[in-house]
Amino acid sequence: MSPPNTAQQAASLTTEMHDLSTGRIRRALRAARQIGLLGLVGLARQHGLRKSVGFAAQNIRHVIAHQLAQRWDRKYGVDTAGSIQLDALTIIGPNRQFGNESVCTSPKSFDFMMHSLPDDLARFTFVDIGAGKSRTLLLASRYNFAKIVGVEFAKELVDCAAQNIAAFKADWQACHDLEIVQADATQYRFPETPLVLFFYNPFCKAIFDVVLGNIVTSLKVHPRDCYVIYGSSSHNAIGWAKPAIMRTGRFEEIAAPPMPWFFDAVRGVDYAVFRSK
Ligand SMILES: C[S@@+](CC[C@H](N)C(=O)[O-])C[C@H]1O[C@@H](n2cnc3c(N)ncnc32)[C@H](O)[C@@H]1O
Repeated sequence: MSPPNTAQQAASLTTEMHDLSTGRIRRALRAARQIGLLGLVGLARQHGLRKSVGFAAQNIRHVIAHQLAQRWDRKYGVDTAGSIQLDALTIIGPNRQFGNESVCTSPKSFDFMMHSLPDDLARFTFVDIGAGKSRTLLLASRYNFAKIVGVEFAKELVDCAAQNIAAFKADWQACHDLEIVQADATQYRFPETPLVLFFYNPFCKAIFDVVLGNIVTSLKVHPRDCYVIYGSSSHNAIGWAKPAIMRTGRFEEIAAPPMPWFFDAVRGVDYAVFRSK
C-alpha cells in the first residue's frame, strides 16, 4: 500500500475537525424538510421578510465562497477552507473561550488589504496572529517578505498549517521562509525585525488588549517599523480594535479604501491599516 499523499493527510485531519462549512446545503435542506413549507412561511413572518432574505443570501454567499476556497485549495494542493469550531480542538493555554472560529481570509480580500503596505517588504517579517490553517501565510508568500510566521493556539490547525506549508507550490511565490508556531497569542514574543502584523478577528477584546500591550512594549524596547492590518467581518471587532490601537499613541491610521464585495469571501470584511510613529 502506498503512503498517503498530502491531500489525503489533510483530508484525514479535516475529518477530526468540526467544520460548519461542509454539508451546509444538506443541513439547510434537512431543516427545511423537518419544518415544512408552512413552518418556513411562519419563520419568515416571525423574523420579517427582509431579515429572512438577508439570512438566505448570507448562506448562499457562504456556500459560493466555500466552493471557491476549495477550488483554491485544489489548485495549490493544500487544505485551508472551512469554518472550524474551536470546541473540539486541542488548545494550548487557557484562552479557548475568547477565541473565534477558524475561518480563513479570502485571497481577494487579502490582496486588497496588502495594497496599503509599501511596495518593498524585504526588511519585514509578516506575522499572522491566529493563523488558522495558514491561508494568509501562503497568500503573503506572494510578497517579498524576509520571513512569514503564523501564530496559532490549536494543535490540529497547526498540524494542518505545517502540512500546507510543506505541500504548497505556486510559481508566483516570492518568500519561501514560512513558519507556523503553536502558541497562545498572549505569550508570543515578536521578532525584533520590522513587522507587518495581521489580525483577522482572531479573539475578543480582552485578549487583543494583552497582545496590543505586548506589541507596544516590544516596539519600545526595540524601536522599529511596524504595520498593523486589522480585518473584521463579525462581532464589530473593528469598532473596538481601531480605538484601542489609536489609544496606544504609537500608531497612525493609513487611509485605506473600503473593501469591495468579493465572491470568495464568506462575509464582508471591514479593515483598517496602521503604521507605527
Ligand atoms: C478568524 S480565524 C483567522 C485565520 C487566519 N488569520 C486568516 O485570516 O485566514 C481566527 C484564528 O485565531 C485563532 N486563535 C484564537 N484565539 C487565539 C489565541 N489566543 N492565540 C492564538 N490563536 C488564536 C483561532 O484558532 C483561529 O484559527
